[in-house]
Amino acid sequence: METKKVTDMQEIVSLSKRRGFIFQSSEIYGGLGSCWDYGPLGVELKRNVKDSWWKAMTYRDDIDGVDASILMHPMVWKASGHIDGFSDPLVDCKECKARFRADKVDVTAPCESCGAKDSYTEPRDFNLMFETTMGPVKDSGSTVYLRPETAQGIFTNFLNVQTTMRRKLPFGIAQIGKAFRNEITPGNFIFRTREFEQMEMQYFVKPGTQKEFMEKWKEIRFDWHIEQGLDPKKLRWHDHGEELAHYADLAFDIEYEFPIGWDEMEGIHSRTDFDLGKHAEFSGKNLNYVDQADGNKKYIPYVVETSVGCDRHILALLCDAYRVENPGTKEERTVLGFVPKMAPIKVAVLPLMKKEPLAQKARPLFEALQKKYKCEYDVAGNIGKRYRRQDEIGTPLCITIDFDTLEDEAVTIRDRDSMNQDRVKISEVESYILNKFGF
Ligand code: GAP
Repeated sequence: METKKVTDMQEIVSLSKRRGFIFQSSEIYGGLGSCWDYGPLGVELKRNVKDSWWKAMTYRDDIDGVDASILMHPMVWKASGHIDGFSDPLVDCKECKARFRADKVDVTAPCESCGAKDSYTEPRDFNLMFETTMGPVKDSGSTVYLRPETAQGIFTNFLNVQTTMRRKLPFGIAQIGKAFRNEITPGNFIFRTREFEQMEMQYFVKPGTQKEFMEKWKEIRFDWHIEQGLDPKKLRWHDHGEELAHYADLAFDIEYEFPIGWDEMEGIHSRTDFDLGKHAEFSGKNLNYVDQADGNKKYIPYVVETSVGCDRHILALLCDAYRVENPGTKEERTVLGFVPKMAPIKVAVLPLMKKEPLAQKARPLFEALQKKYKCEYDVAGNIGKRYRRQDEIGTPLCITIDFDTLEDEAVTIRDRDSMNQDRVKISEVESYILNKFGF
């Protein structure tokens, strides 16, 4: 059988819209650049991703979770270096006013947008933080920022978590939340947006042990992406080498091969004692850790960070899961081959006809399964079309209730990938699914 994988991001954009995964923000007003809304299926997929990450990262004995506020004291960003250093070099085209990242265009060539010659301005630094004002008076003292990373809400809570949870090094703090960056050139669907969600974990360690923990976390995080169903052949490491962010002494990215090429999906950074050290300095608070295991030595812990973009991971899942079987033929079938735990709808219940006696069997089964799995009940249209729709949204199992069900108390369960069908007693459906999914 011929199978075609995704080659063009547009295939994912259009399936996402057609099937209710992702819509453009404020679409009825013509849309808002690089902002996207998760629809009914997208929000389920996103919840599955966040649940999976949360379980992997916090259902352990050494990591606690937090949910810090998006708005933080402006001094946080002074201390972290974001006010002074979180910028990209920007050039404008003097003719068409288009803006580009100076490091992403050839400034000696004609404008990429309008073709004008010698039209680029000199590069200047453009701070990526969104500013807003707090309270009714707009003056310089009321400026606050939308956080450009969730990490700082973890650093500022380091002492709170360590003391309330009676933690000893090494231990971690995890958080999932929105982050905002006024990117100069956002784009490629949900790959680079101005509002996005991060899943970050800061692991606090004794200085000198960061390399060892870096190795450990690199392995754990790479394996997580594979467990999420991503093809290992489309995952690789990128070592930042000497090109490090202002806070890091070692950095690696997990890259995924998107239709636009290989690019970063997750960063694993050794952030040294930079952030806690700066917060101690700027706040005047003592953020030292007293190491009882080492003669009550006092020091600022080092940090190994794992930071993955939830939306970017979702984009990888969509691209990876997408396949068109028998393209261009009568048997053409588009499938999202999610692993069951990522599938937005786990089971579809499809009575062959809307008629009453079938609904009497189908509804109770649907309601029983819905208690455990996100299910869909669909009676509209011919069964072939209903199967195709479920294939395209990635539903692993479809249950058909037909007239034989009234006689034999059994249903047909169809597997999305093999399209094999099993006849299963209604009383055994739950154990059948448990056996297939493993949950
Ligand atoms: N706390 C470290 C940090 O924020 P980063 O490499 O700038 O590091 C981490 O970002 C991850 O956040 C990236 O690997 C990416 O998945 C995601 N990310 C960053 N900027 C993004 C954007 N504009 N749109 C979508 N995701 C983004």
